[in-house]
Amino acid sequence: MAGIENVTNTVPSFEDADSEYAWEYTRNGDYDEADDADDNCSLFSVETCSSASSISRSSNTANYRFENNRRYQSFREDWPLPNDEQEQDRMQILDQMLSLRLNQQLHLVPLEQPKRILDVGTGTGVWAIDMADKFPNARIIGTDLSPIQVAGPVNCTFEIEDANDEWLYPPNYFSLVHSRFLLGGINDWPTFFSEAYRTLHPGGWLELQDDPGKLYTDNASTPLSTLAITRATSCFSSFLTSQGRASGEELFTFDALMRAAGFVDVELTRHNIPLGAWSKESATEQEIGTLNMLSALEGVDAYIFACVDPGEAEALARQAKRDITNKKLELYTTFVVLKGRKPVGCETLPAVHP
Ligand SMILES: C[S@@+](CC[C@H](N)C(=O)[O-])C[C@H]1O[C@@H](n2cnc3c(N)ncnc32)[C@H](O)[C@@H]1O
Repeated sequence: MAGIENVTNTVPSFEDADSEYAWEYTRNGDYDEADDADDNCSLFSVETCSSASSISRSSNTANYRFENNRRYQSFREDWPLPNDEQEQDRMQILDQMLSLRLNQQLHLVPLEQPKRILDVGTGTGVWAIDMADKFPNARIIGTDLSPIQVAGPVNCTFEIEDANDEWLYPPNYFSLVHSRFLLGGINDWPTFFSEAYRTLHPGGWLELQDDPGKLYTDNASTPLSTLAITRATSCFSSFLTSQGRASGEELFTFDALMRAAGFVDVELTRHNIPLGAWSKESATEQEIGTLNMLSALEGVDAYIFACVDPGEAEALARQAKRDITNKKLELYTTFVVLKGRKPVGCETLPAVHP
């Protein structure tokens, strides 16, 4: 994961490092043996340790592009969603929704005294900041294409990086590699998994949380296939595949890709989320449904402009929003959590390799 533009990368091979955890490196290619004090510094910072969390940005990452009354990042062209306040609000809503859905758990993998955590596609940085609060002795690094993060605690740093570039982190470095809602941002998931595997230390975990962008209903009278919201979601999915990105459906095969990359204890779990406050199960289900609905109402505008002509987009968005707010349809979405562990030395690697 290279990232910050205009940086000359002269980093030598990390395979040379004789200790698994003892090496730090900086953007100018220097190695420093890590110590506890240095652990409060930005990974790539060439300055001395500062007392506040840092956000590394190249000057041109904040040159935004404006279209359809929305603001987009201009660091890399191929992420189709805006990064303006409206989109950031949507990320906050999603964060709240998942917090309720997952019973306030920030992660589902077991973590004991993690040392370094990487959050790929961190967005506003909300998850990274919460993790920094939860694990004050760990260093959390959030990376994204957009410089939209707010400052967090001292052990949390943000970097502008494209996860599709070569990852410059050393091997055996992280206790956890995490990503959330990054599905459409990655060109080549097998490479993502092998980079995560390489940079995790033995026993370290990968946790990926994502939305396949599919709609479901158990209500037999809902004409799911003819709904405008179905058209809108499948239009975005086709757009992603036309760009060479994974479709939502492929998310359900990622467990096999993780095993192929060498991960063990791989597990894929699904967590259904009502779309709207139609559930009669509990007030919490209704609250989760309301948050999902609010995010979908915001999301439609963001997604539709990526895949439909502006002329058509408004009408489709209007119809799709009617579906989203129609409680009678009893729609729900599903949220997928994938986890897998890098084996420790003596564990047998799986027979299948890519
Ligand atoms: C839908 S947002 C989710 C943000 C955050 N993970 C969360 O759950 O709140 C996806 C984020 O991934 C970032 N992103 C997309 N493709 C990326 C890539 N190739 N490398 C780094 N970040 C990427 C986007 O800029 C966006 O901020």
